[in-house]
Amino acid sequence: MKKYLLLVVIFSSILLADKLDGKKVFETYCWGCHHQISMAFGPSFTEIANKRSSQEIEAYIIDPKSMYKIFGYKRTVMTQLKLNNLERKLITKYILSYKGK
Ligand code: HEC
Repeated sequence: MKKYLLLVVIFSSILLADKLDGKKVFETYCWGCHHQISMAFGPSFTEIANKRSSQEIEAYIIDPKSMYKIFGYKRTVMTQLKLNNLERKLITKYILSYKGK
């Protein structure tokens, strides 16, 4: 019985991992502070996509504290998030999909 449960857990986590996309990363980590098309606590994804490259976006996510001055902010209040590579790529693609929207 225990073995069976373990299999179910493993199988459903594979399914969930399969479904991981930029929107999910957004809802998990960014949603409280960013909105796709309107200004929230932080700038909208449309605004970010219109002025940044994917490298810049990834660099900001990895370490806001070393990037905020370069990006023209006087200070940063964005949390340093521990995203894995895949999550970071997915969210960056998701942000850039709002370019021009
Ligand atoms: C605690 C609130 C908060 C969370 C959570 C947060 N951000 Fe931010 N973010 C901000 C604020 C506020 C700014 C404006 C500058 C600053 O304070 O660093 C910002 C700035 C940014 C910038 C640079 C904007 C520019 O000028 O180009 C990027 C890129 C960014 N956030 C991406 C993300 C992503 C992606 C996530 C989720 C994985 C996220 N942020 C989560 C608050 C947050």
